[in-house]
Amino acid sequence: MLPTTSITLLLTLFLTITSASPISFSFPLVARGALTETQMLAIAPTSKNCDNPPAKGECATAKQAVKFTTQSFDKYAVTSKAEQAAVISLMAFESDDFKYNKNHFPGVPGQGTRNMQSPAYNKKYAASIPALKDKVAKVSSPAALLDLLRENETYDFGSGAWFLTTQCSKDVRAKLQKGDEAGWQMYISDCVGTSVTDERKEYWERAVKALGV
Ligand SMILES: *[C@@H]1O[C@H](CO)[C@@H](O)[C@H](O)[C@H]1NC(C)=O
Repeated sequence: MLPTTSITLLLTLFLTITSASPISFSFPLVARGALTETQMLAIAPTSKNCDNPPAKGECATAKQAVKFTTQSFDKYAVTSKAEQAAVISLMAFESDDFKYNKNHFPGVPGQGTRNMQSPAYNKKYAASIPALKDKVAKVSSPAALLDLLRENETYDFGSGAWFLTTQCSKDVRAKLQKGDEAGWQMYISDCVGTSVTDERKEYWERAVKALGV
């Protein structure tokens, strides 16, 4: 048996350690490999704040982007770092660092959400969300449907992961998961359906670096 003084000493020591190191105790609350605001800012450098947004009501900060993008990766089970980098870079590029969630140039009605997907995909995407069923039944235009998706950041930021996991072939995903440029090019050309440009590639390169793919 330890003498009372020793117990008191041990208890004091324990309390000193726990109160002196709050970081070591809060650390396990952060999931390993979780996305950070720093990573998001490295990919979308102008997303620190939404001061003077170019389009009213459309801007999101890196901090918001981290929260809702992380949520989407959980929901659609996008665990590959290479796939995460591809989706984030697509969203950051398409939304101009999260400043837009509607197509403005030229302004296709109904085209939007953070990956700027076309109206046909927004229709499929909205139909895949059970919680939107009643509201979707009442919308009468592609623009109104987009507004429904943009209204809730979970849906607004969820489309990139939804698109990857439901619209890309197994073959594209397998190649993309390798993390090399050829796989990413295939994702852009064969699944997203557009072509690689220097600027798109710069976003992807920043994402790959930031996530440590
Ligand atoms: C957004 O959608 C999510 C998922 O359906 C839901 O949990 C959340 O409550 C919604 N947020 C708002 C503000 O309606």
